Amino acid sequence: MRSKIVAGNWKMNKTLTETNALLAELAGKLPDTDAEVMVAPTFVNLAAAVQDVNSSTIQVIAQNMHFAENGAYTGEISADMLLDIGVDTVIIGHSERRAYFGETDEILAKKVITALEKNLRVVFCFGEELEDRKSDNHFNLVASQLKNGLFNLKPEAWSKIVLAYEPVWAIGTGETASPEQAQEMHAFIRKTIANEYTTEIAEAVSILYGGSVKPANAKEIFSKVDVDGGLIGGAALKADDFIAIIEAI
Ligand code: G3H
Repeated sequence: MRSKIVAGNWKMNKTLTETNALLAELAGKLPDTDAEVMVAPTFVNLAAAVQDVNSSTIQVIAQNMHFAENGAYTGEISADMLLDIGVDTVIIGHSERRAYFGETDEILAKKVITALEKNLRVVFCFGEELEDRKSDNHFNLVASQLKNGLFNLKPEAWSKIVLAYEPVWAIGTGETASPEQAQEMHAFIRKTIANEYTTEIAEAVSILYGGSVKPANAKEIFSKVDVDGGLIGGAALKADDFIAIIEAI
């Protein structure tokens, strides 16, 4: 059985005070669930967030990391720094990192390798832009992102990988892929992994959907057989919305 996961990516939102308050509210309202619940606060609040969730089942994860072990990379964060404060999962390849910070498939592949060498779990994000979908290139694009980012990995490394399919046109736009579009792409992703590796690996990897998931649409999206949860942006910033999404899984 693959894990069901609801992960909140807080992006560049929430001060320390707000982080403490939101985590306290989430911990107090967290429903009984089989799903793993994750939140990704900004770096500066990560250590405090780890303390905040101490006695709850909420996992605190990072939004990004650098591929280098350490060194002269001003403003960057290493895998060891995350591990040392008790963070063992990192998001890599979010479309905002790709679009605004020049993170190419090649850079992302290096980050994934470093993260796995350090025994971090990776939530690897990818997805097509609107033009790709309009020109019917979305399957090719997603296949190439998987190939370039992940298909250099040894089969055993896949137990530490979670995938997050996020069509860029649905992120923060209020426009959501239909449950059928999400299912179609998730099935394609699984088939692509099965072709490159094995059916067992493809069936074992959790594939999250991200892009304007909210309480009103979560249940239908999560009901699809190849959708194992969600990577939630805007709706993860309000406790009641995030809790409702967790309840929908
Ligand atoms: O990481 C989360 C995704 O970018 C989705 O963001 O739910 O605000 O569309 P959103």
